[in-house]
Amino acid sequence: MQELISNSSDETKEIAKKIASNLKKGDVIVLSGELGAGKTKFTEGVLEYFGLNNEISSPTFTIVNEYSTDDINIYHFDVYRLEDIDEFYAIGGEEYFDKGICIIEWGEMLEEILPKNYKKVIFDRDLKNENRRKIKLENICYK
Ligand SMILES: Nc1ncnc2c1ncn2[C@@H]1O[C@H](COP(=O)(O)OP(=O)(O)OP(=O)(O)O)[C@@H](O)[C@H]1O
Ligand SMILES: [Mg+2]
Repeated sequence: MQELISNSSDETKEIAKKIASNLKKGDVIVLSGELGAGKTKFTEGVLEYFGLNNEISSPTFTIVNEYSTDDINIYHFDVYRLEDIDEFYAIGGEEYFDKGICIIEWGEMLEEILPKNYKKVIFDRDLKNENRRKIKLENICYK
């Protein structure tokens, strides 16, 4: 596990871009952290890395948003509103895992059905500084 500090949403996006440079089809990344922690900002950074600038739409009212380039599909999930894993199965969620890169906000609720090598990014806010985040990386190579 590695721990980073971000002092702005742009820094969080830069961290995301660097991580994105090592991502490949079949990778699943869980983003974990409270409301407003930076999970969607991070996702924006990943999409920017793949040239999908400004295409992000918030998945608040859909469970998954799909993006693609000539080379890769990216699936951005927000499973906050799902009651349980059965609801994820009901939308065919697990069928996305091997079709591209899956980024799953609040994905810890799905842990038992995720590919066993899934990656995790945990965001922690700082009570004293509203722009500061502790970002923990699990199973992610970051140099
Ligand atoms: N260091 C930082 N990293 C990321 N976002 C930051 C940072 N500092 C301030 N922010 C702000 O915090 C907010 C993060 O919002 P974001 O939508 O990414 O959160 P989220 O974790 O996706 O929340 P939700 O669970 O509601 O989907 C943004 O308004 C962003 O500008
Ligand atoms: Mg979000």
